[in-house]
Amino acid sequence: MEHAVDTTLTVNGTEVRRRIEPRQHLVDFLREELGLTGSHLGCEHGVCGACTVRVDGAIVRGCLMLAVQADGCKVETIEGLSDSGELAKLQQAFHKRNALQCGFCTPAMLLAARDLQLANPRASREEIRAHLSGNYCRCTGYQAIVDAVEEVLHGKG
Ligand code: FES
Ligand code: FES
Repeated sequence: MEHAVDTTLTVNGTEVRRRIEPRQHLVDFLREELGLTGSHLGCEHGVCGACTVRVDGAIVRGCLMLAVQADGCKVETIEGLSDSGELAKLQQAFHKRNALQCGFCTPAMLLAARDLQLANPRASREEIRAHLSGNYCRCTGYQAIVDAVEEVLHGKG
């Protein structure tokens, strides 16, 4: 920990102070240091979206951001957003539509869907597809995922 940097961030509403190695990525810090394993590691180079977390209100790739860069930031993960109930409607719709199989992509998919809901609550099906295009799912197929998001955004169901 020779080069560790004092870092203070808020994670899911709780202030966290740690000495962090500058090369540790945010998603590794969340998973390994805080035990928040809902954010997943897939490609580890910014392609699959499995590591998505929210930092100061914007979704980011947790594998492309260093943990020390989150100093002073407000970080929210799937754990915090589930506990607060913010994702409840989307989670219910994913469950109802069988929009997941292994679930590996699901936490990040929910964060991306919520991000769209906040930015563009009347997004069209094409816009939903475009917004989720940075999140890869290897098993379910996107039809059910887009159906679930559309159900919530358009009040269908
Ligand atoms: S693990 Fe970060 S984008 Fe794939
Ligand atoms: S549900 Fe398995 S990767 Fe999406």
